[in-house]
Amino acid sequence: MDYGIRGRTAIICAASQGLGKGCAMALAREGVDVVINARGAEALHATADEIRAATGVKVTAIAGDITAMEGRAALLAACPNPDILVNNAGGPPIGDFRDWDEAMWQKAVNDNMITPIMLIRAVVDGMIERRFGRIVNITSRSVKAPLAHLGLSNGARAGLTGFVAGLARQVAKHNVTINNLLPGPFATQRQTDGLHKLAAKAGQDYDTFARAQMAAVPANRFGTPEEFGQACVFLCGAGAGFIVGQNLLIDGGAVNLSM
Ligand SMILES: NC(=O)c1ccc[n+]([C@@H]2O[C@H](COP(=O)([O-])OP(=O)(O)OC[C@H]3O[C@@H](n4cnc5c(N)ncnc54)[C@H](OP(=O)(O)O)[C@@H]3O)[C@@H](O)[C@H]2O)c1
Repeated sequence: MDYGIRGRTAIICAASQGLGKGCAMALAREGVDVVINARGAEALHATADEIRAATGVKVTAIAGDITAMEGRAALLAACPNPDILVNNAGGPPIGDFRDWDEAMWQKAVNDNMITPIMLIRAVVDGMIERRFGRIVNITSRSVKAPLAHLGLSNGARAGLTGFVAGLARQVAKHNVTINNLLPGPFATQRQTDGLHKLAAKAGQDYDTFARAQMAAVPANRFGTPEEFGQACVFLCGAGAGFIVGQNLLIDGGAVNLSM
C-alpha cells in the first residue's frame, strides 16, 4: 500500500530504540525523511545508520533531552517545518502513590504532557499553512485502562489526551490531524525493565512472570515495535485526514472494551 507520504519529513522523538524507533523505521520505509532524537548519542547514531542502510532516506540524528527546552530547540532548529511529528519520551516510573512527591509529579507532567504540547505548539501553525500535518502522540493504554502502579503515567497522559481532544478538532479542517497511539504491552527495554521489577515484587522469576503476562494478552504475546510503527504510518498517511483526535489502542486485545 502506498501511504502517499514519500518525500515528507518527520520528527520522531525518543527514537533510538523501542516504539519511537519502530515508528521512525516504518516511516522511513515509506520514503519519509526522518529526524530522530534521544539523549544517548551513540545509540541514536547507530539507529540512524540502521535506518539509512535499510531505507536510503535522509536521516538526521539530534541528540538531546526532549523534555528540556534546549533539547526541543535543537531538534526544531534542525527541522523547523516537519510534515509529521511523533511525540514520545520515556515514561514515568512505576510504584506506589505514596512515593511520588511533588517533584516527581512535576516531572511526569512535564515529560508526558507539557513536552508534547510544546512541540505541537511549535509546528502546528506551519502544518496549517501548508495544509498538511500529521501528529501522533505515543501515550499508553493507561489512558483507557489506568493501572494503579502507573499512576504518574495515568495522570500525565490523561492531561495530554484532554488537551489534544480539543486542539485536534480545531485544526482538522486544515488537513492537520492529531491522534494518540496507546501501546499495551510491547517487547521493549522499558517493558522488560518494568516486568523485572514487578516479578521481583511478586517473588517470581522473570521468565515465569513474563509468560503469565503474555498469557493474559488475547494475542498470547507482546507486541513488536515494528507492528507499532505500522499503526503510526497508517495514521500519518495522506488518506488518514478524517481520523481526528482518536485514541487507538494497540494491545493485542489486552484491554477489553466493547466500544
Ligand atoms: N513498551 C510498552 O509496552 C509501553 C506500554 C505503554 C506505554 N509505553 C510508553 O511508550 C513510550 C516509549 O516506550 P518504549 O517501551 O519504547 O521505551 P524504551 O524501549 O525504553 O525506549 C525509550 C526511548 O526513548 C528515549 N528517551 C527516553 N527519555 C528521553 C528523553 N528525555 N529525551 C529524549 N529521548 C528519550 C530513549 O533513549 P535515551 O535513553 O538515550 O534518551 C529510547 O530511545 C514511553 O513513554 C512508555 O511509557 C510503552
